[in-house]
Amino acid sequence: MEIQLWREILAPYTLAVNEMLVKFNHVMDEHRRCGLYSPIEQVNGRVKKISSILDKLHRKQIDIDEIDEKIEDIAGIRIMCQFVEDIDKVVELIKQRKDMKVIGEKDYINHRKASGYRSYHMIVTYDVQTLKGTKTIKAEIQIRTLAMNFWATIEHSLQYKYKENIPEHIKSSLLTASDAIVLLDKEMSAVRSEIMDAQNSFQVKANIVADILNNIQNLYRVANKREIIKIQDEFYRIYAFDDLDQLERFSKELDIISEGYRAQSLSV
Ligand code: GTP
Ligand code: MG
Repeated sequence: MEIQLWREILAPYTLAVNEMLVKFNHVMDEHRRCGLYSPIEQVNGRVKKISSILDKLHRKQIDIDEIDEKIEDIAGIRIMCQFVEDIDKVVELIKQRKDMKVIGEKDYINHRKASGYRSYHMIVTYDVQTLKGTKTIKAEIQIRTLAMNFWATIEHSLQYKYKENIPEHIKSSLLTASDAIVLLDKEMSAVRSEIMDAQNSFQVKANIVADILNNIQNLYRVANKREIIKIQDEFYRIYAFDDLDQLERFSKELDIISEGYRAQSLSV
């Protein structure tokens, strides 16, 4: 038998996980920068541990040469959402992408597992560039709410502790807890629009304030210093009112002033 070079086997998966994390984080940032609600709240990724790969090969009677083809979760991405409704948005978003091709889906949200587990799973293919050229790997993307993630994390550690044999009374508690999570997600969905409004106005305000202070700092370099200090004082005065409309108006006025300076500097 040939020697297995695990570092070489795993390297493309590590690259894929890192790239996908950058991309999903970018999706979050882009929403927030545009003052939009992000259906992705958090994203994690991991490369499966060699010991877990070996266990899976044994459990599923897979040959070591078939790893790339038959083990779909060596590269694993986990996307957490605030609300169940966001999960569909994320699924759509992934389907629209040109750099990930969906080759499998499992809906454990509408079809909860016997354990009580809920999540939406997608298997995608993803291209990475290596010295040997393009390598297409498979990755598993798990999409779930924060509440589903809480349940799955706890249940997973119990699975680890008891192997396949979780005692009946614990299994039953986990099922009760899973029901409670379904209810929790439903209750949160009922106040979703209120929560989203609150988070949105926070984000909008944060963006405007960052814009204003950025503008003031740029102006400070080119304009009359005393004028700019006056503008800054005015900003603090308006900020204290805690009124988004006033802040927005102030920001627009400041934009016009900045435009004026930019035009001036171009004409000289
Ligand atoms: P493996 O379970 O990985 O052998 O693959 P599978 O073909 O059974 O796919 P499945 O979609 O059932 O599981 C894929 C992954 O989902 C697992 O590796 C876990 O991360 C997660 N998962 C599936 N079922 C459960 C469960 O009952 N509890 C928890 N905590 N996680 C689960
Ligand atoms: Mg399984």
